[in-house]
Amino acid sequence: MHALIVFSHPVPGSFTHTVAARIAEGITQANPADSAEIADLAAEGFDPRFNEADVAAFLREKPFPADVAREQARIDRADALVLVYPVYWWSMPGQLKGWIDRVFGNGWAYDDTPETGIVKRLQRLAVHLVAVGGADAGLYTRHGYFDAMRTQIDHGIFDYCGAPVMTSEFLIPSDPSHAEAHLETAHRLGRGVFGAVRSDAA
Ligand SMILES: Cc1cc2nc3c(=O)[nH]c(=O)nc-3n(C[C@H](O)[C@H](O)[C@H](O)COP(=O)(O)O)c2cc1C
Repeated sequence: MHALIVFSHPVPGSFTHTVAARIAEGITQANPADSAEIADLAAEGFDPRFNEADVAAFLREKPFPADVAREQARIDRADALVLVYPVYWWSMPGQLKGWIDRVFGNGWAYDDTPETGIVKRLQRLAVHLVAVGGADAGLYTRHGYFDAMRTQIDHGIFDYCGAPVMTSEFLIPSDPSHAEAHLETAHRLGRGVFGAVRSDAA
């Protein structure tokens, strides 16, 4: 099985980058027959700006632009999609949000036409979400940010397209050794990416 790990962070050696790498290691260590591709949106220079061609595709007047079709094809090749991102303003970074705006389009992620209504098209895609935050759990809980982010991202985006969110983790500061603990969590997450899919299938 194959996983696409998409992450968005401007600095190649960042903690977020290391988390993504640990998840990839976990996937291949759990089963060397499985594979993981890391899509580093910043390094690849993905343009997140929703443009006129994207609007035409959204209205189903034109095909998806070539850069969007390429991203859709690499998700089509994957059995699982893992998103790893730093929390920016209680959400994902703008580049990753723009990737979703452009790539998860009408006619690919879902259908929305007068004839069909809404049809969820990503039901085969297992999704894992890993948000790396700087604030502590108390702040998230007091203000309802855990619930707000899960409503907006897990439900608002992935459930809309029918893609099951298998895990949704927040890696946030807890104690002085939280970085090491988070890397262990990332490795465990990687080892389990296809475990849930296989036990569902069994
Ligand atoms: C623009 C910006 C906005 C941020 N907003 C939040 C936030 O809303 N909540 C939070 O927990 N951390 C926030 N942070 C902290 C980052 O999530 C944190 O620094 C990052 O996850 C650490 O990972 P890194 O070392 O890979 O950068 C923000 C950081 C930046 C730069």
